[in-house]
Amino acid sequence: MGLISTVFIVSAQKTPIYKDKKAPIESRIKDLISRMTLDEKILQLNQFTVGYNTNVNNEGGVIKEIPIGIGSLIYFGTDPVYRNEIQRNAIEKSRLGIPILFGFDVIHGFRAVYPIALAQACSWNPDLVKSASEMAARETKLSGIDWTFSPMIDVVRDPRWGRVAESYGEDSYTNAIFGVAAVNGYQGKSLSDRFSIAACLKHFVGYGESEGGRDYHATDVSAQSLWETYLPPFEACVNAGAATVMSGFNDISGVPATANHYTLTEVLKRRWKHDGFVVSDWSAIRQLMFQGVAGSRKDTGFKAFMAGVEMDMADSIYLENLKILVNEKKVPVKNIDDAVSRVLRVKFRLGLFDNPYTPIVSENERYLSTESRQVTEQLAEESMVLLKNSNNTLPISSSVKQIALIGPMAADKKNLLGSWSYNGREDDVESIIEGIEKEFGKTATISYAKGCDFDGNDESGFSDAIEAAKKSDIILLCLGEKKDWSGENASRSSIALPTIQEKMAVELKKTGKPIVLVLSNGRPLELVRLEPIADAILEIWQPGIAGGSPLAGILSGRINPSGKLSMTFPLTTGQIPTYYNSRPKARPYPTNGIYQDIPTNPLYWMGYGLSYTSYKYSAMTISSSKIKRNEKLIAEVEVENTGKIAGLETVNWYISDPVCTISRPIKELKYFEKKEIVAGGKVKYRFEIEPMRDLSYTNSEGKRFLEAGEYFVMVNDQKVKFEIIE
Ligand code: NOJ
Repeated sequence: MGLISTVFIVSAQKTPIYKDKKAPIESRIKDLISRMTLDEKILQLNQFTVGYNTNVNNEGGVIKEIPIGIGSLIYFGTDPVYRNEIQRNAIEKSRLGIPILFGFDVIHGFRAVYPIALAQACSWNPDLVKSASEMAARETKLSGIDWTFSPMIDVVRDPRWGRVAESYGEDSYTNAIFGVAAVNGYQGKSLSDRFSIAACLKHFVGYGESEGGRDYHATDVSAQSLWETYLPPFEACVNAGAATVMSGFNDISGVPATANHYTLTEVLKRRWKHDGFVVSDWSAIRQLMFQGVAGSRKDTGFKAFMAGVEMDMADSIYLENLKILVNEKKVPVKNIDDAVSRVLRVKFRLGLFDNPYTPIVSENERYLSTESRQVTEQLAEESMVLLKNSNNTLPISSSVKQIALIGPMAADKKNLLGSWSYNGREDDVESIIEGIEKEFGKTATISYAKGCDFDGNDESGFSDAIEAAKKSDIILLCLGEKKDWSGENASRSSIALPTIQEKMAVELKKTGKPIVLVLSNGRPLELVRLEPIADAILEIWQPGIAGGSPLAGILSGRINPSGKLSMTFPLTTGQIPTYYNSRPKARPYPTNGIYQDIPTNPLYWMGYGLSYTSYKYSAMTISSSKIKRNEKLIAEVEVENTGKIAGLETVNWYISDPVCTISRPIKELKYFEKKEIVAGGKVKYRFEIEPMRDLSYTNSEGKRFLEAGEYFVMVNDQKVKFEIIE
């Protein structure tokens, strides 16, 4: 008896702290690191891929031999059984049994694909974006993936750049708000919750400054715009607890983002105290050679690691070189330990040590729950933007008996999914024609003609389209972009639709029938020629699997559109960049600083979007015309729905500081609120201005200043002055 209890006590004492579920995470990390060899540590800092790689831009192939102690894998599969097999290997066969972290690009949904980020932001509904991210996290987690490379919170101002589709638009505050919503949706209350996945903020930082809209090119990001425009969304999401960050492909005025000690270590880790880890973008470490700051693979590894990139995505450069660099005393072991502890921290927080395997449930239980479909549909509905509606062409009157449904997008499914939708399936998508038939099939005859393709110059389908148009009461012309015209490495020199689509519109116009232009695209478009042809324009973006019904509902009037743009539509490509919050020009006179050959104003500014009802804004009131720095100011406006149907109205609050030490943007979005207003109803909107948060400016080192003097708070077309006094 005595012998048995002694043996029991000895073996109980031997359970390592890192395996003790009850021990604090920091003690578990410390204990585990103390047991790891240098090789084991370095393996944790590498990410390989496994499964079929469908991303044409990422050259890595199928990796058959996975080192059992690898830190992370990009999992191009959806099968949790296979993932569990790989995980079992790591847990049971590696010396210390460290679980692998499985990551993947779940950008706007997994199987239930919801609208692209640029569209999501047009909903101005962060709660809905949070719910969609929550739904995505559940599907992702049940497929064996613990970590998504999302949200992308790059502020974007050049619609030629394909990656604008992945961003929440041209405004820094909007990217912060929606980024936080996505992080909260993915990560839930705790990373260790059953359906939580880790978020990854990307691309750190300044990638959106893409020169000429060209991907992978250099970016010239001034210290001022870094702090004023590009860093704030990242700071907000770090404060919201985002587990990881991805370093960008771009360089920041000569120092590539992946070798940038200032942004990665001084700002992210020291100032903001981020304690998760940074993963490089795919091959971004190797690319330091092409960017001209490293002469060899070893050198790239040294630069990226010492700058603060903890995990090497797909390059194996850390695997090949970190040990050598440690032995050469170039990389201190304490830096390796810090990097490994960051990776382990995320794994512990996700609960991977205690629950390393994915529960196996049927595909039916895993994907496309009723709730996820509803959220996807509602998000699609709220992100669609009514851009034009002359003579109340919309909603389509019940007297319409013949509808001509024309265009390459009308029966298309694949392209409605948008870029970065690997696990989306065409079969799950409700097309435009399906939505229209469901909505109008009983009351009208629908004649469909494709008319032309997305591009090329085949006009042979025009005659069918014209014939369908001639016998119709109204034409629904569905044009747009293919899904691979945006996303990574998908820049375009012109943001106009290809000539063939515009030409068909011109031909259809000749029939004299009213034209409703339905657009599905991944970027703002040049509509200078199409806008005059269309009586109404509805922007549906790339809505994902559930676009058909919301679109048809808006056309019929069952749904009152409420989306407003998250990115400005320039009139022509030549106006790029045009965004709402540029700094004031030196000569404010109408004839100065304009183009000689085209108008200077864009077609639609960020924030633009029509409704079927009308709103009347009361005069804005402010709680005081003078406040001290530490006092709050309340601005209020009452909005009346003066139309006949209920609507969702988003109120955007801006501030401006006309005289400051630095020249400030003409206006800056600081708050927004979306509320329902019943027909005839009045609703108050309120913006509580906290001077340090809302009125201060940052200098080029990130230091905040609040100056006394005159400011304006702006809403709709109103501008009210107030003062900060000493
Ligand atoms: C490259 C892209 O830039 C990045 O956004 C993505 O997450 C990685 N590849 C992984 O696929």
